[in-house]
Amino acid sequence: MQYYHEEDVDMHILDGKRIAVLGYGSQGRAQALCFRDSGLNVVVGVRRNGASWEKVKEDGLKVCEFADAVKDADIVMMLLPDEIQPKVYYDFVEKNMKKGAALEFAHGFAITYGTIVPRDDIDVIMMAPKGPGNGVRKMFLEGYGVPALVSVHQDVSGHARDIVFALAKAIGATHPGAFEQSFKNEAFTDLFGEQAVLCGGLTELIRMGFDTLVEGGYPPEMAYIETLHETKLITDMINKGGFSMMWEEVSNTAEFGGLTRGPRILNEQSREAMRQILREIEDGTFKNEWTADWDDDLAKLKSMEEAQKKLRIETVGKEVRSLFQKRD
Ligand SMILES: NC(=O)c1ccc[n+]([C@@H]2O[C@H](COP(=O)([O-])OP(=O)(O)OC[C@H]3O[C@@H](n4cnc5c(N)ncnc54)[C@H](OP(=O)(O)O)[C@@H]3O)[C@@H](O)[C@H]2O)c1
Repeated sequence: MQYYHEEDVDMHILDGKRIAVLGYGSQGRAQALCFRDSGLNVVVGVRRNGASWEKVKEDGLKVCEFADAVKDADIVMMLLPDEIQPKVYYDFVEKNMKKGAALEFAHGFAITYGTIVPRDDIDVIMMAPKGPGNGVRKMFLEGYGVPALVSVHQDVSGHARDIVFALAKAIGATHPGAFEQSFKNEAFTDLFGEQAVLCGGLTELIRMGFDTLVEGGYPPEMAYIETLHETKLITDMINKGGFSMMWEEVSNTAEFGGLTRGPRILNEQSREAMRQILREIEDGTFKNEWTADWDDDLAKLKSMEEAQKKLRIETVGKEVRSLFQKRD
């Protein structure tokens, strides 16, 4: 893959352009603040009765309702939850966007699965930061950035590619590097990563480890420390220097035990489950299941969220984290 860095990207293409950031949550807030700090003309579109309205004002940015934000915008950024985007697009964006303006996404979901089919007289681009919003903002404030995947789905203006790279530079992504991939590749790999490894796989692994120790008669606080608390220390090492740095840093006993026992926990059965998860992303099974929940007011998601809150590891975790808080 080719990476583009600071010297490869010119931000002047954004001079005089008005950017409407729709949504002021994880990505919306982080990106809007980075754009402002990069000297760009930003307006934030949110609903008037929602919690974000006041937050935008407190942060000193211009706030307006979706339709007003979109009307004069040259770039409209869909930084709303994926399940909310189609309604906001069809109610407010589609009829108000200027011809030749750019519609931007931070995830390939809507275009790949067709939950939004954009007008054919606008650019359609994606700038997907590879990190959560608070990470985007934190790294930017440190003078760096998180990497971003960029893509052009539709280029009507003839400048779509320059615009999307410039947006990546404006959040600091060209410090580590911005790279180009299709909407589909972003959607499929992002969904797979979060389902099988980062969010789904990791939490299940931790939870099973915790439950096993508690079932074995060990204090839940100890189980929490051994299975959850220490994951940060280990993943920080893996992030910094790969598996080899981590194996060097832990004891030989941990290395021998980990290398002999790890493959017994995650084995051929797990590998086949991962392949099945990828197939379900690619063939639309996951998309159908998730969008069916959109139509049911997210009933399944809400009930799973409630069940998660009641997990023993969650209640014990709260106590341990408050004990571990730094005391000045
Ligand atoms: N979160 C991440 O780490 C991350 C990383 C990479 C890409 N992405 C992508 O970035 C996009 C935005 O995700 P996000 O996680 O940043 O979203 P989010 O934090 O959940 O978005 C919250 C915003 O959406 C608004 N909103 C929620 N429900 C609404 C409704 N029914 N009507 C109107 N506005 C509503 C909220 O306004 P109110 O205050 O009015 O409720 C708030 O401003 C998605 O495409 C996501 O896949 C996210």
